[in-house]
Amino acid sequence: MTMRRALTAIAASLLLLASIPVSAEVVAVIGTGRMGGAIGPRFAETGHTVIYGSRNPTSEKVQALVAQTGNGARADTSANAIANADVIVLALLWSATEELIRANVENLDGKIIFDITNATLKALQPNREGAVESSAGALIQGWAPNAKVVKAFNTVGYHIVADPEHAGGPVTVPLVGNDQDAVEQVSAMVQAMGFETMILGGIEQAHVLEGMASLYFVPYGAGRFDEAFEYYFRKGTAPAGIGSAQVRGADSK
Ligand SMILES: NC(=O)c1ccc[n+]([C@@H]2O[C@H](COP(=O)([O-])OP(=O)(O)OC[C@H]3O[C@@H](n4cnc5c(N)ncnc54)[C@H](OP(=O)(O)O)[C@@H]3O)[C@@H](O)[C@H]2O)c1
Repeated sequence: MTMRRALTAIAASLLLLASIPVSAEVVAVIGTGRMGGAIGPRFAETGHTVIYGSRNPTSEKVQALVAQTGNGARADTSANAIANADVIVLALLWSATEELIRANVENLDGKIIFDITNATLKALQPNREGAVESSAGALIQGWAPNAKVVKAFNTVGYHIVADPEHAGGPVTVPLVGNDQDAVEQVSAMVQAMGFETMILGGIEQAHVLEGMASLYFVPYGAGRFDEAFEYYFRKGTAPAGIGSAQVRGADSK
């Protein structure tokens, strides 16, 4: 554990002791790819219990992530993970998100949906297949009207989520959402991981955050990897192997 990670863990413990609103929650992390694998261990490190929701919860890969995460983590189907959690993190492909929400809408009522997804915005990429008029965040709130959707972390690369020290300086995470208590709770969870936060407005502003992510997608899609990483991953900090055909094929839109 680096010095910064150790200090983050101590700070999180002190916040919990001081009853500042970082309560220990059961967090369902839906998806065990790059973001799920980065964010799950950070939740555990900052005092939360993680249930990974996966299509293959017993697979070797997912079980290795469970073991790495610790603090009582487990893996289950996405439906069971959602039913048993207080906060649901959408760390799955955008294209699989509507089906997940609609299939579990009753179990999302009154809960926080921590939305990290990125949809392609029609305003920025009108010809791209699957591009949306509004934003992923606004659509998710519409599909789950009784859930408290808070958008955050869609502007941060997965390896920065795993260790903000990679950024070489403080990283600000913008947040939007309609329920003020939920937004503040998510903001506190993000701060406990070592980030600064900025609360921007309601979920109708999610398109602003998703537009920021396009600063990565657009140059990345055109093969201008260095430019993409300049913004999204911070200069010179791209993870090993990124920019290869293999990684490009796994892109998550
Ligand atoms: N990568 C980043 O740096 C980054 C940064 C900010 C935001 N995001 C957003 O975070 C979300 C996840 O991105 P990611 O990079 O972690 O993607 P990824 O590495 O491709 O992983 C996505 C995960 O989604 C799950 N999934 C559920 N249904 C699926 C389906 N029908 N097909 C394929 N996978 C399915 C899979 O987990 P199981 O196999 O366990 O089911 C898969 O591992 C996306 O919405 C993305 O826009 C990513």
